[in-house]
Amino acid sequence: MQNAATPPLERRNMDSMAVVPGTGKLGIMMPGMGSVATTFIAGVEAVRRGMAKPVGSVSQMDTLELPDGTTPPVRDAVPLAALDDLVFTGWDIFGGNLYEAARTAHVLERDQLDAIRPFLEGIEPLPAAFDQRYVKRLEPRHHKQGRNKCDLANQLRNDIAEFKARTDRQVMIWTGSTEIYLTEKPVHQSLTAFEKGLVNDDEDIAPSMLYAWACLKEGIPFINGAPNLSCDIPALHELSKQTGAPIAGKDFKTGQTLIKTVLAPALKARCLGLHGWYSTNILGNRDGEVLDDPDNFKTKEESKLSVLESILRPEESPDLYRDFYHKVRINYYPPRGDNKEGWDNIDLFGWLGYPMQLKVDFLCRDSILAAPLALDLCLFMDLAARTPSLKHTGVQEWLSFYFKAPDTVIVGAPAEHDLFRQAEVLKGTLRRIAAEA
Ligand SMILES: NC(=O)c1ccc[n+]([C@@H]2O[C@H](COP(=O)([O-])OP(=O)(O)OC[C@H]3O[C@@H](n4cnc5c(N)ncnc54)[C@H](O)[C@@H]3O)[C@@H](O)[C@H]2O)c1
Repeated sequence: MQNAATPPLERRNMDSMAVVPGTGKLGIMMPGMGSVATTFIAGVEAVRRGMAKPVGSVSQMDTLELPDGTTPPVRDAVPLAALDDLVFTGWDIFGGNLYEAARTAHVLERDQLDAIRPFLEGIEPLPAAFDQRYVKRLEPRHHKQGRNKCDLANQLRNDIAEFKARTDRQVMIWTGSTEIYLTEKPVHQSLTAFEKGLVNDDEDIAPSMLYAWACLKEGIPFINGAPNLSCDIPALHELSKQTGAPIAGKDFKTGQTLIKTVLAPALKARCLGLHGWYSTNILGNRDGEVLDDPDNFKTKEESKLSVLESILRPEESPDLYRDFYHKVRINYYPPRGDNKEGWDNIDLFGWLGYPMQLKVDFLCRDSILAAPLALDLCLFMDLAARTPSLKHTGVQEWLSFYFKAPDTVIVGAPAEHDLFRQAEVLKGTLRRIAAEA
């Protein structure tokens, strides 16, 4: 199948995939230090101390089959930063340190957190660039004041410059809240319009865009773990290419959508038809509380809905997939905390049109699924930033494997959603880098 994800990667087959070596500390900057960020950072420290294994991380747990028949671990086959070389910082609207934030998140056991308490207490989020109009359910306690959005973005640049002085290379990964639903507007269409909009306090520039702009301006890769528009606008694609800072997004593909992008290709491969797919979740963490607001849920809904049409391609197989009904709900239910339960009811049909049903009940843990993705993305984006033939394309489509709504080189072009095809592209790119190395 050809789609927008394919041509840039094919073109790069001809290019050299030589990697510039990376030495010293890799600084990881995280706007939003809630459940995902604390689970990721505490997890890396636990792994460094030999207390646990980095389960779910392709970079740490998987192998890469090479043309000579060997299968070294991914982390040995390509020149990735070592876990011991990772250093963390970030921003949040709640003060305190990461031990307190991790206790509030209620994801990791208290014993595990206490064992690394001094390390977590040593990281304090910086005051955030925040505007409650974009995340209505949260009351800020620790945020920057500025004359306008340009001033706030420049304050972020100063924070970044300070962190740059302490580390050798950097990546930024947005692990902040899902913002209200925004669509592309004229202010997003060019870097000139965007930078003018910063000065004019344009309401279509969300806080996540301030971080993305500041980060790219500093020549640092930006990853978007939420469904926010953030860097997926022509203005920031332009900036990414200008400064050679790669971008990737959006919305970590963790629980329900992971399973959906495994099951849908199976139906398609067996020519089984689909009448409808109903997905619902209960979730009780702060993310669930934010998504309880309809304007914020709309952003997540759009991201979650995008996958089925692209995999099943109703226009090619109307007898099987014409007019299927797809519904996605998220219900805020505090007793469950981060332990999300996702139900799927799939109404499918087979031979002669006879109906069948498939039910999935995934009792998952949201941040436990997201943390290894954050780790892989930081390491692979640092690798992309050191691979000239990758970084100059801007968007890193080869990392679509990790996202619910993958950004594409051409804004708004169709993306690849099938998990297995995405895995092939990911491994294929790593294999080409390994061959060169
Ligand atoms: N956990 C998952 O499985 C998963 C999957 C896909 C996407 N995501 C997305 O990842 C993001 C983080 O999820 P989480 O569970 O850690 O949420 P969380 O609510 O625990 O943490 C988000 C943090 O971001 C902070 N924040 C909000 N706006 C900010 C700003 N402008 N600057 C700095 N900090 C800001 C909040 O104060 C909060 O502490 C959410 O957008 C979520 O939708 C999570």
